[in-house]
Amino acid sequence: MTFDRSIKIAPSILASDFANFGAECAAVESQGADWIHVDVMDGHFVPAITFGAQTCKALRPHIKTVMDVHLMISPVDACLEGFAEAGADIITAHVEAGPHIHRTLQNIRSLGCKAGVALNPGTPAEAVADVLDMVDLVCVMTVNPGFGGQKFIDMTAKIAKLRAMIGDRPIHIEIDGGVDPTTAPLVAAAGADVLVAGSAVFRGGSVSNPKPYGENIRAIRAAASQS
Ligand code: DX5
Ligand code: ZN
Repeated sequence: MTFDRSIKIAPSILASDFANFGAECAAVESQGADWIHVDVMDGHFVPAITFGAQTCKALRPHIKTVMDVHLMISPVDACLEGFAEAGADIITAHVEAGPHIHRTLQNIRSLGCKAGVALNPGTPAEAVADVLDMVDLVCVMTVNPGFGGQKFIDMTAKIAKLRAMIGDRPIHIEIDGGVDPTTAPLVAAAGADVLVAGSAVFRGGSVSNPKPYGENIRAIRAAASQS
């Protein structure tokens, strides 16, 4: 993975056909996805349960780009090894998920993965000020985590603040929740480079009819690039 700040579209498989994950990953990649965003939910940190490391391991051979694993689980530390062994390129943990985010990020990097830290809408940018030298990605949640298809919450001031805090460090700013062609320009203008999109990518298509995925990805990328 080489670092750059070009716009990257990361479809979230949370909005895909759960009985067809492998084919869905291949379909969005063939239609222009840059990364695949994998949402792991535990029914404790967030209300819903999705899947765990075993599913990520099964998915790995179907992902040719970047496997971007977003852990919405608490406690998280004991689970990290399983996701690294499953082949995650990036593991993102929430700053709100436990008292030891510094240790969690150390652990992720020591397992050979890129480290991400996620911020819920109610958490200020300053919460990650002291870990910026330990991360490869900051994920700004623009919905409260737990479900796809929610309404975008405007976090542009936080994104701009983080962009200034990051300076020239090679750290991606990822936006997660409610990203579509209307909201993408706002977050891109504020400094985001990785746009997670679930419903706005998968709507209208399927593995047997993947062209809408490509149209949706291109629409988000074009909107973000206009900013
Ligand atoms: C929310 C997840 C998101 C979600 C985005 O908890 O982390 O990745 O799938 O879905 P949309 O794009 O539909 O808001
Ligand atoms: Zn996510």
